[in-house]
Amino acid sequence: MATPAQSTAPETAARWLDGDVALITGGANGLGRAIALRYLAEGARVAVLDRDAEQLAALVDAAGAHANRVLAVTGDVRSTKDLHAAVAGAVERFGKLDILVPNAGIWDYHRSLTRLTGEELAEAFDEVFAVNVKGYLLAVEAAWRELVATRGSIIMTLSNSSFHTNGGGPVYTASKHACLGLVREFAYELAPKVRVNGVACGGMRTQLRGPESLGLDERRIEASFARAEAAGERPHVPLYDASVEPEDFTGTYVLLASRRNSGNITGAVVPVDGGIAVRGFRTAAGGADL
Ligand SMILES: NC(=O)c1ccc[n+]([C@@H]2O[C@H](COP(=O)([O-])OP(=O)(O)OC[C@H]3O[C@@H](n4cnc5c(N)ncnc54)[C@H](O)[C@@H]3O)[C@@H](O)[C@H]2O)c1
Repeated sequence: MATPAQSTAPETAARWLDGDVALITGGANGLGRAIALRYLAEGARVAVLDRDAEQLAALVDAAGAHANRVLAVTGDVRSTKDLHAAVAGAVERFGKLDILVPNAGIWDYHRSLTRLTGEELAEAFDEVFAVNVKGYLLAVEAAWRELVATRGSIIMTLSNSSFHTNGGGPVYTASKHACLGLVREFAYELAPKVRVNGVACGGMRTQLRGPESLGLDERRIEASFARAEAAGERPHVPLYDASVEPEDFTGTYVLLASRRNSGNITGAVVPVDGGIAVRGFRTAAGGADL
């Protein structure tokens, strides 16, 4: 006898986001760029807000045959005016908004409490929280009306630092914990009309920068990966060969955006981090050879 699942013909041929419209913040580089290109491949039309105009233009080039389905908007996520302009631009160009991905962020380069003066800490806090937390809050404020209209969804980029220590210093860790609070609060406030979920990413090779106030705005996390690789170090996670390329993190963003495949999921966070939560004391156990 056919199970209920077998009795329905699978729709594997359809792209998962055909006809949807997404807005991604911080999509000119790194993870946001990879999500933008993946969403295009899944059939979506994509607006990208970023402060890096040069890299935005490069993204449109990289979209190739899909370039007519990309809208590049130069702006800063700390500005509600810029975010409202991005939402209005997406709706004007593509007719609606189904998916919001708050993603733009900066890191604190592991600056621990004991390495910072009170003044540095105060300035780094204001800068990191303004981008990482206020930027998400204001993006949702700018977009929720359009998302309610389409019964759409929000997928926030979180981090292993939304749950665990030592993925940064206190400022970054607190900012990503705060974003977890935003996922939960908005999942509650916008239900049942808008689903709100998160992807807690582990480390990956991107252009992630630090705060200007600490003189770290020209540093890029990819340089840290290059140094670790040159030293023969592997990530301290159970999947010790876990990918560090942003492209390999995008599948969960597709899944959570898909009404067909995630229609009953809200307030959830998927860890895509090589299994940090079960890593025990620092080293990977290594598994067993059969
Ligand atoms: N790279 C990692 O190891 C890692 C791990 C976990 C989570 N994350 C998170 O992933 C997200 C994306 O970071 P990434 O690693 O792709 O870095 P990235 O620097 O490659 O991309 C971030 C993008 O955000 C943009 N941006 C930064 N501040 C902005 C602002 N004020 N206004 C508009 N745009 C702004 C940058 O120009 C850049 O294009 C961040 O939220 C980060 O915290 C990264």
